[in-house]
Amino acid sequence: MSKSFDSAGLTFRKDYFDDRAAWTALVSLLDDTFGIDIGPLRHLGGPDPTSMPFGWFASNDTLAANLTAFAMPIVVNGRQIEAGAFQSGAVRPPWRRRGLYRDLTRKALEWCEGRQFEAIVLYTDKPSLYESYGFSILPMHRYCGGAPKPRSATNSARQLDPWNKTDFALLQEALKTRAPVSDVLAVSGNAAMFLVNTQLDTEVRLSWLDEEKAIIAWKAGAAGRFSLLDVVAAEIPPLAVILGRLGALPEHVDVFFSPDKLDWGGEAVAFDNGTAFMLRTTTDLAPASPAMLSPMADF
Ligand SMILES: CC(C)(COP(=O)(O)OP(=O)(O)OC[C@H]1O[C@@H](n2cnc3c(N)ncnc32)[C@H](O)[C@@H]1OP(=O)(O)O)[C@@H](O)C(=O)NCCC(=O)NCCS
Repeated sequence: MSKSFDSAGLTFRKDYFDDRAAWTALVSLLDDTFGIDIGPLRHLGGPDPTSMPFGWFASNDTLAANLTAFAMPIVVNGRQIEAGAFQSGAVRPPWRRRGLYRDLTRKALEWCEGRQFEAIVLYTDKPSLYESYGFSILPMHRYCGGAPKPRSATNSARQLDPWNKTDFALLQEALKTRAPVSDVLAVSGNAAMFLVNTQLDTEVRLSWLDEEKAIIAWKAGAAGRFSLLDVVAAEIPPLAVILGRLGALPEHVDVFFSPDKLDWGGEAVAFDNGTAFMLRTTTDLAPASPAMLSPMADF
């Protein structure tokens, strides 16, 4: 028998992103719950157009509970997978432990079933919330190793600023036509999350390689380390070319996705930032080698 829930005084709504007050209520819920401000997303192309938010509202400007589902096509072992994803799952403290989140999870799962997704993915610090729905943890791995000798002309990269109109147009175009950064595990679209992630981590730098028509998302690490977070391009350039164009001369490189397209090898190291990546699928979707989704695809 299905468990009941208590929604006294609340109104259920879905698909409400076009309602400015409801969107603001979500921004506030996520800021209060996770300390994350997704407000800038509205000015950076808006939320993913496939987003389907499900929420219980206390009033037009107070969202008591939310869970958003959206389409997130991914590539696993070279195969394109039509996947769904869950994000922005939160319930305000006065309305917790009434079964509201269970209700929203069921509604979001039903929406995904209607779309016939082969898999559903999510990130969470509470995996037990999702295990009974058939989600299981997929361990994530980054790659570490010595830097290759930089190839090609040095220092020809240009820094991009998403708030600059020209740069933003370039970013949008590159995201539209990108190839997956890896064949083992990668997103194949998801422009909205890339753009919002440029704002959530202030250390992320975006550089444009004109010759390769590639955007490099990277961070300068401590003590001669270089962190490569993502590459947005129709053809992924080798790591040696990327370092050359950036004029970077690190000793060590950390790559936060499977480097199968980088013409470089490193050692796979378990990546644990306290958040689990979970997958629900009826098919076998285990990556053939250790991998992780780029942090620029975090949702
Ligand atoms: C986690 C959270 C969404 C739960 O919302 P809720 O409306 O209180 O949850 P429900 O009452 O619908 O309970 C749903 C199930 O989760 C369990 N649960 C509730 N809070 C939990 C918690 N903090 N940790 C683990 N399980 C929890 C309940 O026991 C229940 O299990 P059941 O379906 O087997 O009976 C809410 O506490 C919250 O917003 N927390 C902060 C943000 C967060 O952690 N979001 C989810 C991470 S992606």
